[in-house]
This record gives sequence, structure tokens and C-alpha cells, in this order.
Amino acid sequence: MDDARLSVWLDTIWQDLHEAAARRRGDLPNATIASVNEDGAPSLRVVVLRAVDRAAAELSFHTDVRSEKVLQLLARPASEVLFWRPADGLQLRFFGQADLFLPGTLKATAAYEAIPEKGRRKYRTAPAPGTPLPAPDALDFAEAAPGAADPGLARFTLITFRVSRIDALRLDGSDQTRAFFHLDGDRLRSATWIAP
Ligand SMILES: Cc1cc2nc3c(=O)[nH]c(=O)nc-3n(C[C@H](O)[C@H](O)[C@H](O)COP(=O)(O)O)c2cc1C
Repeated sequence: MDDARLSVWLDTIWQDLHEAAARRRGDLPNATIASVNEDGAPSLRVVVLRAVDRAAAELSFHTDVRSEKVLQLLARPASEVLFWRPADGLQLRFFGQADLFLPGTLKATAAYEAIPEKGRRKYRTAPAPGTPLPAPDALDFAEAAPGAADPGLARFTLITFRVSRIDALRLDGSDQTRAFFHLDGDRLRSATWIAP
């Protein structure tokens, strides 16, 4: 890589994602993560970016152990995470491997304990995600009784996504810029401009 603009852009990408995870404002925190279902078809859904660790080239997401993506990603960890920022036409495609930290693991417990009480509630729904409901608001929550184990902790799952490659594209008026970055942890293995 002999074009300094590539490493400047990569720095900006990591910085923007870091801020997106910290502030949860705008469009970047709403990522789309892919998995493969039992029929071999792709399955996509929005998940909120919770943390970014550039040194480990890792993105973190939270989910419910009962959601379909958990078994799908355990079976086939190779995945892609997509970010889209309409304000400046930025598309980021992150390729890598999903590691799942299931309820009871130290990492899942630590991440759950860092979530404010309000955010923990969604992991205490009585029906599993995807269960048919008689009405849109017929969702029961298992409340945490004082002194008893928090039912949300038994469902909370941490997904860390180890990034190995990034395809960045900006289509903003006459600015049509695309680059491909190949990472090795915090080391940049290669970077190149590519045709949009
Ligand atoms: C704005 C938005 C944010 C979401 N954030 C999350 C999230 O952080 N974690 C999660 O598991 N699901 C999140 N969801 C719900 C998922 O998109 C999906 O519907 C759910 O996780 C079930 O997916 P699955 O059955 O494919 O596992 C979010 C949905 C929207 C619309």
C-alpha cells in the first residue's frame, strides 16, 4: 500500500464505527449481519453495533440465545456485516468470523452486567423471538425477582465478529470511491483502490 489516502480512510472508518457504537446516533450503529439458514439460504437482520475494538479488529453485537441467528452462526461462523450511511452514500461490508459467547460464559456475563437495566429487559421476554403472539402487545416479561437470578442473563448472548476484510464504497454525487482492505488483527496486510 503506497497511497496514504487508503490508511487515512481506514482510520476514519474505524473511528466512525467507534463513535457510532459509543453514541448510538445516526445510521451507522444499525448494522446488518448475515447468516446461512438450515436450507442453505442467506438470512439477514439488523443488529445494533455495541462495541468496536480496532486492536483486535472486532465488532460486538448482543442477541438472545433463542434467536435463529445463534444456531445459524454457530453452525457457519463465516459471515458478513453491512453498514450503510445514507448521508454521504457510505457502504461498508465487513467480512469475517462470528464468535458466540453463550449465556453463562464470562464474556457474556460481563457484557450483560455493563448494560443499563432498561436495556436488559428485552432479554427477559417469556416467548422466544419468533414465537406467534395473539396480539402485537401480548409480550410477557419475566421480571427479575430480588435475590433471584436475572432471567435475562440466561438468554443474553454476545457476538464478536472478527474482521478480516473490508470493502468500503462511497457513492456521493460525483464521488465514487471504493477500496478493499485486508486485515490481520490490528495489522493492515494490504489495501487497494478498486472500481466501484
Ligand atoms: C433497529 C433495529 C435494531 C435491532 N437490534 C437488534 C440487536 O441488537 N440484536 C438482536 O438480536 N436483534 C436486533 N434487532 C432484531 C433483529 O433484526 C431480528 O428481527 C431478531 O434478532 C430476530 O432475528 P433472527 O430470528 O434472524 O435471529 C433489531 C431490529 C431493528 C429493526
